Amino acid sequence: MAGRTIALIGSGALAARKRALLASTPAFVLEFTQIPEPGALAGADFVIVAFEDAGLAQAGAEAARAAGKPVNVVDRPELSDFHVPAIIDRGGITIGVASAGIAPTLARDVRAAIEAAVPVSTGLVYELARRLRAEFRRVAPDSAQRRGLVESVLRGPAGECARTGDLDGAEALARQAIAVFAPPAGLVWLVGAGPGDPELLTLKALRCLQDGDVIVYDRLVDPRILDLARRDAERICVGKARADHSVAQPDIHDLLIRMAKSGKRVVRLKGGDPFIFGRGGEELAALRAANVAVHVVPGITAALGCAASVGAALTHRDYADAVTFISAAGRDGGSPLDNRALADPRQTLVIYMGGFALETVRANLLKAGLAPDVPVLLIENGTRPNQFVLRCALDDLARHSATLRLSGPTLLVIGEAARAGDSALILSLAEMAAKRAAA
Ligand SMILES: C[S@@+](CC[C@H](N)C(=O)[O-])C[C@H]1O[C@@H](n2cnc3c(N)ncnc32)[C@H](O)[C@@H]1O
Repeated sequence: MAGRTIALIGSGALAARKRALLASTPAFVLEFTQIPEPGALAGADFVIVAFEDAGLAQAGAEAARAAGKPVNVVDRPELSDFHVPAIIDRGGITIGVASAGIAPTLARDVRAAIEAAVPVSTGLVYELARRLRAEFRRVAPDSAQRRGLVESVLRGPAGECARTGDLDGAEALARQAIAVFAPPAGLVWLVGAGPGDPELLTLKALRCLQDGDVIVYDRLVDPRILDLARRDAERICVGKARADHSVAQPDIHDLLIRMAKSGKRVVRLKGGDPFIFGRGGEELAALRAANVAVHVVPGITAALGCAASVGAALTHRDYADAVTFISAAGRDGGSPLDNRALADPRQTLVIYMGGFALETVRANLLKAGLAPDVPVLLIENGTRPNQFVLRCALDDLARHSATLRLSGPTLLVIGEAARAGDSALILSLAEMAAKRAAA
């Protein structure tokens, strides 16, 4: 706004609000309480019109247009050429919240939430950063290293001191910290991304995503979760689609070790929970053996996320005393569904990786002694916008494999607990067949 001239045309409370806002900027304000002649607006860069009266608001917009100036008419997006965002001002940090004039109340709510989350003292930390900018660049010319340095200073005692308003004291503390700064060693966070819905991430997982220099992720991780990572973080997909291990497990270990040893903060992001059928245990052991610092951040495993999203209680006491998570994919090609005490009628079975082996699941469970009419919930893409849920009897499970055309991660919930669940979400085989045929 420096060097700009703004014309404010208006009267009453609306105009007073805008006058106060403009007075906090370095712009020069030309004020009119009545509609001016177009010539009077010649020196303005843009025009703000603030009248309660619809006719006056319209006339103000027309006057601005006649003078060839962009105009914002307060609370009237249809008359405006541009919109003015709600501003959160923290010294050098400015946050604008705009709704294109359509939902100013919602924008104000969002602004209030941000106001509460960003302390007023942020502006003081900004001022400290401004004072030290050249010093940061001199000491750490490499941008990744500089990020670590700046973070350690601004989040450390110097930053805290700045927040009290003692900027000189803060600067002295910062210079001491810079003098002894050594780049921190790298580390790996083994993070569970949950089943898909980004709101099912833990707070800790979110913090790791925002702090990590590199994100090494599986194909199963929902793209909306990757969007939450730091914008400039490097992203490396290591595949893990079924039958497409685009990076072999030992190579993933090597990659994690190499990255961490080069000083990077690595987020190893895995679908669900890293320790439930996710080979997280192997990665943890490999990292420890290589003396790399590693921390595990649990996630909501698919069984819990999917069951919750369809309203099926896995241990509803009317149906089950136990729940078993089991993988349909065996280590050396054998089926873990063989030779097990799976037939207990008061147990819920949750089968991972069974979507591509429906016939094997059916045959093995019938052989283990489960009744053919035991209900099964098949949940594909659980907790995601394209979630698909089917309920059928165990014996019918494989009958419609071809029609099902499963392509996303699929979980099977088997047992009396599968009778419950939100019927509005769950299709029968006949409904599914009709729906897929129509598609
Ligand atoms: C390699 S395992 C990884 C499991 C993951 N670590 C967890 O805790 O959920 C992959 C299997 O998890 C299940 N799965 C993961 N996310 C799912 C989702 N959103 N919906 C349904 N099943 C899912 C599927 O059975 C899939 O084949």
